[in-house]
Amino acid sequence: MSILIKNGKLLLKDNDSRTDGYRWTVGNLRIEGPRIVALGPNLEPQPHDIIIDATGKMVAPGLVDTHVHLREPGREDEETIATGTKAAAAGGYTTIACMPNTTPPLDSGAAVSAVLQRAESACIRVIPVGCITKGRHGKELAEIGELVEAGVWGITDDGNPVVDGEIMRRALEYSRPFNIPVISHAEEPRLTGKGVMHEGLMSTILGLPGIPPEAESVMVARDVLLAKATKSRVHFAHVSTKESIEIIATAKSRGIRVTCEVTPHHLVLTDAAVRSYDTNTKVNPPLRSQDHLEALRVAIAKGIIDCVATDHAPHTWEEKDCDYLQAEFGLIGLETALSLLFTHLVRPGILDLATLWERMSFGPAQLLGLADHGLAVGNRADIVIVDLELEKEVDPTKGWSRSRNTPFAGERLFGWPVATIAGGKIAFREAE
Ligand code: DOR
Repeated sequence: MSILIKNGKLLLKDNDSRTDGYRWTVGNLRIEGPRIVALGPNLEPQPHDIIIDATGKMVAPGLVDTHVHLREPGREDEETIATGTKAAAAGGYTTIACMPNTTPPLDSGAAVSAVLQRAESACIRVIPVGCITKGRHGKELAEIGELVEAGVWGITDDGNPVVDGEIMRRALEYSRPFNIPVISHAEEPRLTGKGVMHEGLMSTILGLPGIPPEAESVMVARDVLLAKATKSRVHFAHVSTKESIEIIATAKSRGIRVTCEVTPHHLVLTDAAVRSYDTNTKVNPPLRSQDHLEALRVAIAKGIIDCVATDHAPHTWEEKDCDYLQAEFGLIGLETALSLLFTHLVRPGILDLATLWERMSFGPAQLLGLADHGLAVGNRADIVIVDLELEKEVDPTKGWSRSRNTPFAGERLFGWPVATIAGGKIAFREAE
């Protein structure tokens, strides 16, 4: 397959800088097979080229998500590799990392290989994450070498924390020679207790049991200290508190090998959203108060937070159509992440577009070790074309995900992907 993208506003990045060095240029881009073969102002179409007119649109490297729950194997009623990757492509993603809290969990080389095999026919690239402990029980380490050999990016018991500090220390020691991160779902379950939302004024008003911010930040502190002691890599999943940010900023300034991600919903919503009792606002970690949201926004602008990750967590209607106390934690995010952050952060001038791309594309690509990411000749053709002027209402009934649990239904957002090309193949086009 060969594709010519014409007249787009291309986002280019010079490789020697993390924050500067972005360039916008109007031009054309040609793809042959899985790679970008030409870039320039005057490219002529070749016979058999599929021509995509990108006049007035942004053409940028595809988005990359370090944290997605694809639910396969085991909960195909919530999501499958096929439906989750299609939702991701519709959201502009070309590579996603899938979490191992499946049924059974991805705690062996065979389980990881099975997912990779299923993902071969998916429309975008899937990179699995393996478990830290066997069965995610937190008791005995999984065979980390075997998981790495099978192709995992990192290891995590996400959904659950590793409560036993000694197990976490061993996981860090074993993962070090492989140079993979241990991904920390930082949560002290005894501090979470039976909490269902952020603990504060709003939980008191609503009469719902709260989760204090310390349930997260004490574990962030523990894992920073363990990363320091073992000289290993820790990546913090879905950070949500200002104290976590302070600890991570200090750790980074001292050369401790930590990175972290934030979700779009923690950047856009506060615990005030729970007032609706909409169970789609129930998520772990919970939506925090305004002061935490503001700290996250500062941290993403400064680069203390390395990337945006959706924590796309599909749940069925039955799992959400119930009392707030009983509902499952989690919300879907792949199809709305970009337009949500473009509308709420870029359009009001809180974050510039190139920095958003750093956190949603270049940054996570670097974390996942994708060396050939970006609009340059020879690189893998992972590209998204975005109409920044396009305004649409979020309608989960029209989404690609098998689940519909979004708190953003009915919101009007700007900045939607109109085409996504992954590995040189068209993974999504708006007309679909
Ligand atoms: O809200 C959440 N849902 N947080 C997690 O850590 C896990 C996820 C899920 O798997 O549903």
